[in-house]
Amino acid sequence: MKISSAEFVKSSAKPGQCPTDRFPEFAFIGRSNVGKSSLINMIVGISNLAKISSTPGKTRLINHYLINRSWYLVDLPGYGFASVSKSEKELFSKMISVYLSEREVLLNTFVLIDSRLKPQAQDLQFIEWMGQAGLPFTLVFTKADKLTRQQLQKNLKHYEGVLLEFWEELPPMVVTSSKTKNGRGEILESIQKLVKP
Ligand code: GTP
Ligand code: MG
Repeated sequence: MKISSAEFVKSSAKPGQCPTDRFPEFAFIGRSNVGKSSLINMIVGISNLAKISSTPGKTRLINHYLINRSWYLVDLPGYGFASVSKSEKELFSKMISVYLSEREVLLNTFVLIDSRLKPQAQDLQFIEWMGQAGLPFTLVFTKADKLTRQQLQKNLKHYEGVLLEFWEELPPMVVTSSKTKNGRGEILESIQKLVKP
């Protein structure tokens, strides 16, 4: 799919403030610093559309980017940013959980996982929450350029093994790198299928 336009529309502090034009949307979520904003920029091919931070936890709002004037990519706040206060953390997760479970136009959520790390409790908890809520998601393994092919395969196998301890079936998975653009086609293809079934 060709990206012909991409524009920032708004940042919302609450789900109730999100755009009301009913275009289908696709959200990106994951721990702080996992590469959500970088991935959105890589997908649309604009290096500074979504803010990339060297300080984790920068994206604290729901950010809507309108693509091809017909669907949204949504950059969500990172979960599990250690240095925000506990109450603020709870507020984020409440805000995120309301958005994810009640947003009718949300067609799929891309859950980003740092491909370099062992399965993290917070990510597994989040995946479990999505599964129990019956929400569709795709696991996106980020920063693949930082690993050798062998290390990557080993980490993916390990991750699958851990997921299969809890789930009978594996969710769709994509390996990405915002640096090499690996995974871009796969993500766009999955979006296209849902936008124009
Ligand atoms: P928050 O908004 O703070 O939750 O972070 P985020 O998930 O949006 O991460 P962001 O895209 O800001 O990236 C965090 C850091 O990781 C930045 O320094 C990026 O340049 C780097 N990064 C992100 N994706 C990749 C990747 O695929 N490869 C490499 N090598 N670095 C990456
Ligand atoms: Mg970000």
